[in-house]
Amino acid sequence: MTKKEKYENLLKQADALLLPNEPVITALANLSALVFNELDYVSWCGFYLAKDERLYLGPFQGNVACEFIDFGKGVCGTAARKNETVIVPNVHDFEGHIACDDKTNSEIVVPISCKGKIFGVFDLDSYDYAAFDETDKNYLEKVIEILKKNVRLVDYQLL
Ligand code: SME
Repeated sequence: MTKKEKYENLLKQADALLLPNEPVITALANLSALVFNELDYVSWCGFYLAKDERLYLGPFQGNVACEFIDFGKGVCGTAARKNETVIVPNVHDFEGHIACDDKTNSEIVVPISCKGKIFGVFDLDSYDYAAFDETDKNYLEKVIEILKKNVRLVDYQLL
């Protein structure tokens, strides 16, 4: 399967999986599992959720990861601060990259905004260099649109 075919498949499953009345944490947990299992080049994927300019580790798949990241720090905090997707082809070249697994070589982080505020970020890592490109960016942003369409993120209170 091509990357596009994997994502088209994933989008359909995400739309069916994410249900309007389920708790946000339930949706994020299953969405991280879906993405992790559908994209074979992903070594870690998960959500960091924002509160008071800090991102806290949320539902994820993969190895244990750092528990919080301040806005502006690392790739996640950069994406949150800028409210834009950040693609890092080689994490060793990204100043301030926060290494949770020393086998990680590339990363993409998609911000999730809700009612004009950063709700959190969706972070994906790979052991491959340059694993993520514009196709990933476009489709992962669509995944987040489906999440926002199907699940009431605005109701979620962290801590
Ligand atoms: N590398 C991220 C930290 C989170 S882990 O990849 C799970 C960063 O630089 O923000």
